[in-house]
Amino acid sequence: MQQTHGFSVPFKFPLHFTQDAWNRANTVFFDVIRREEADRRHRVLAVVDSEVASAHSSLLADMRKYFAAFPEALELVAPPVIVPGGETVKNDFSYSLDILARINDVGLDRQSFVVVIGGGAVLDMASFAAAIAHRGVRVIRFPTTVLSQADSGFAVKNGINLFGKKNFIGTFVPPFAVINDSRFLETLSHRDRISGVAEAVKVALLRDAGFYRYLETNVENIASGDLAVLTSLIRRSAELHLAHICGNGDPFELGSARPLDFGHWAAHKLESMTQHRLRHGEAVAIGLALDIIYSVRTGHLARIVAERILRLLQGIGFRLWDPALGERAAGGGPAIVHGLREFREHLGGELHVTLLRDIGQGFEVTEMDEAIVAHAIDELEARGASAAERPEPRVRSAVVFGRR
Ligand SMILES: NC(=O)c1ccc[n+]([C@@H]2O[C@H](COP(=O)([O-])OP(=O)(O)OC[C@H]3O[C@@H](n4cnc5c(N)ncnc54)[C@H](O)[C@@H]3O)[C@@H](O)[C@H]2O)c1
Ligand SMILES: [Zn+2]
Repeated sequence: MQQTHGFSVPFKFPLHFTQDAWNRANTVFFDVIRREEADRRHRVLAVVDSEVASAHSSLLADMRKYFAAFPEALELVAPPVIVPGGETVKNDFSYSLDILARINDVGLDRQSFVVVIGGGAVLDMASFAAAIAHRGVRVIRFPTTVLSQADSGFAVKNGINLFGKKNFIGTFVPPFAVINDSRFLETLSHRDRISGVAEAVKVALLRDAGFYRYLETNVENIASGDLAVLTSLIRRSAELHLAHICGNGDPFELGSARPLDFGHWAAHKLESMTQHRLRHGEAVAIGLALDIIYSVRTGHLARIVAERILRLLQGIGFRLWDPALGERAAGGGPAIVHGLREFREHLGGELHVTLLRDIGQGFEVTEMDEAIVAHAIDELEARGASAAERPEPRVRSAVVFGRR
């Protein structure tokens, strides 16, 4: 007789929106860390993105003062670990190892916390290190970029790059809590204000035509990096991503389908091919453009709708052509097509690629025609050449998206 055994583990994690989280008058962090155990002293190791630490010169002192204000409840067990910001930190295992060594040195246990403050790369790396220490030390994340506040900061996966492949090692572990502090966005470069918007465009295209129209209406303010518009698009993007993660029945991606990875098969490959010269968001914008043109060329999407979307992406400030797209593989076809094989390997099982039928309506295919991909790439190259001649977008006053 064969018996089947099983169990399910419920996960809950809050996502807070706040401002000035490390001001002692702000109790969001204090409340969050005590949400399961109010009566004990919580031990914390902090990991901070170097560029956030230097752009917010009082951050480390503010954190020290915050912990000092609640000595009965909070303990900062060591000075914060400062790690390089950006993809560098995911490309070298030694940064994860260093965090593991610190966790060991200060004797963190599974009820302690790693508090991570930084962009998506630092969050992915430090969350990975915490996840494998003692099989899981709890993590509280403070995402500091548009991309990480709108998408990756509350993702239930982490990881670093290995063998030239994005996110080759990593785990699925929800964070203990996520705190989106809008103050961090103020010091972002224009490039990083814009790059994260690609994930908002992606999720709008898949799930919410109304949100897509909001992005179109506000394109010039987005392009200028207006923080009021960026903050409101972060909220809607977060709601849509979370609705998917919590409501689609497959948060740990056991099946092969990954609808939120629209545009990502090419994006991940482009990031590796360009040695991460392109930001994740910039590569996603190109990946979206490629799969949108592919959707047109395979008869699924109306040309006029595709033109509208490409105009939005370019209006936001994305370049939809990168020379890496023109690289050829040994057999003569586009080198980027290897991304499809790696994507399938990463998912396991069948290839699943999301395409678009209309704005707000994604759907999945299980194969891609390489010749059509090559034509879509040619089309992007031709557009890239003509876009280079267009003037910069103008800036106008803010129009704020109302919460629905
Ligand atoms: N886990 C997931 O599900 C998931 C989802 C999407 C993306 N990601 C990952 O996220 C990473 C990209 O994240 P990102 O777009 O946030 O870029 P990033 O982390 O590379 O940060 C970009 C740059 O901005 C700097 N920076 C961060 N915050 C700043 C601030 N407030 N002020 C000034 N500078 C600041 C960083 O130091 C870095 O130089 C990629 O590695 C991608 O794979 C993960
Ligand atoms: Zn992404």
